[in-house]
Amino acid sequence: MPDLHVVILAAGKGTRMKSELPKVLHQVAGRSLIDRVLDSASALRPASTTLVVGHAADKVQSHLAARGDLHFVVQEPQLGTGHALLQAAPLLRGQSGTVVLLSGDVPLLRSSTLQALVDTHTSSGATATVLTAIMERPYGYGRVVRTDGQITRIVEERDASKLQREIREINSGIYAFTLESLFETLTKIGADNAQGEYYLPDLIGIHRKRRNIVASHTIPSAVEIRGINSRTELAEVSAMVRQQKNEELMAAGVTLIDPATTYIDSDVEIGADTVIHPCVFIEGGTSIGAACEIHSGTRIVNSTLGDRVLIKNHTVIQDSAIASGAQIGPFAHFRPGADVHENAHVGNFVELKNTTLGAGSKANHLTYLGDATVGAKVNVGAGTITCNYDGTAKHRTVIEDGAFIGSDATLIAPVTIGRNAYVAAGSSVTDDVPGGALAIGRGRQENKLDWVTKRKELQSTKSL
Ligand code: UD1
Ligand code: CA
Repeated sequence: MPDLHVVILAAGKGTRMKSELPKVLHQVAGRSLIDRVLDSASALRPASTTLVVGHAADKVQSHLAARGDLHFVVQEPQLGTGHALLQAAPLLRGQSGTVVLLSGDVPLLRSSTLQALVDTHTSSGATATVLTAIMERPYGYGRVVRTDGQITRIVEERDASKLQREIREINSGIYAFTLESLFETLTKIGADNAQGEYYLPDLIGIHRKRRNIVASHTIPSAVEIRGINSRTELAEVSAMVRQQKNEELMAAGVTLIDPATTYIDSDVEIGADTVIHPCVFIEGGTSIGAACEIHSGTRIVNSTLGDRVLIKNHTVIQDSAIASGAQIGPFAHFRPGADVHENAHVGNFVELKNTTLGAGSKANHLTYLGDATVGAKVNVGAGTITCNYDGTAKHRTVIEDGAFIGSDATLIAPVTIGRNAYVAAGSSVTDDVPGGALAIGRGRQENKLDWVTKRKELQSTKSL
């Protein structure tokens, strides 16, 4: 096999998105368009992958910084798709093999389709091969013009005659080119068209005129080459990707009570016999074990859940870990760094941040645990607050195994509550509590006997 080089065009502004964000960074089910395209392309194991960037190039480059082995070339100004590919000349000129060219805005494209395109290109001995599809409503796409079955050229919607607009075979914007002659022919493209741009599809006509072999690979369904040009298309494609994800999960034994209102990102993993109720959002790289139950109104982002975890309604969980058998919610809020161990309980209106809650421990009502390390079998009473912030710095609260924190305690960090110690309800704890001790930090109660009767007597003498 000759060397394969991938070039992805992503310099355009994406005007129709009306966005500050470059088009290729918009997301479909938790993954950006460009990441999806790169994933399909990398399955071809190319010798090199080059991205043509331009509009908001810095944003695209920094988004992709973690991916190694990517070359970037900048197209400035953006004078059309033919001009865009020309920018890759300094990297690829003089090399041999095949260039697979695609756009950064076709997120559904499968790697098997790209492979089939490359196979057609190689076996036909073509100089250029176009991926095409039949579309019922081809409006907006370049049309494939054929004579006696042979492609002669591609004509853009705006430049097409009335008759050419009737053609239903469209150019996907995805091609395989033989590298040797590519950049020489590219310089022959003109900009004499409705948009005054250098159109890459004009290469096809140029190759035909030179009597080079031009091949095509036509796919049966146009769905996977759908380009995203507007927010409506983004929503439509997202719905399709979500539906497919839901079907995969159900096939693997996950119950979705109402798939239509269940929003699960592509990278999420869920174990068998887990039940997801309607209106649940599971996002990013979240992984959920087997036999869990997630109730309505819950949003889980980049988090890990063990097996048999019960999440009651309206819980928000972000960048956190919840071990097997834990019960959470309703109305719990896990901010980044919450780490809840086996069989722990976190109840309503409890907020956790950067906090470990040990095995079998309970924080069931109206509590804030921030920057805390809570051991096993601890009972955190209703209304307990860790005062972790002194206005300048954050401090840790440590609650050791078996401790009992009475309701409405304020634990002023840094502070440690020792093993099996008790904190009396309503206490403000400013000093460490030794293991096994009882800490009481509150004003003493005083009862004023017959105070009500005396007050009434006083009031009636005044009114005389
Ligand atoms: C293009 C094709 C059309 C095809 C359609 C398939 C051209 C002239 N037309 O039209 O035949 O049916 O794709 O979706 O190629 N880009 C650059 N630099 C530029 C211009 C564009 O990098 O100067 C990039 C864009 O960011 C985008 C891709 O090239 O990723 C395609 O550009 P776009 O404007 O979306 O082309 P279409 O009008 O969709
Ligand atoms: Ca497009």
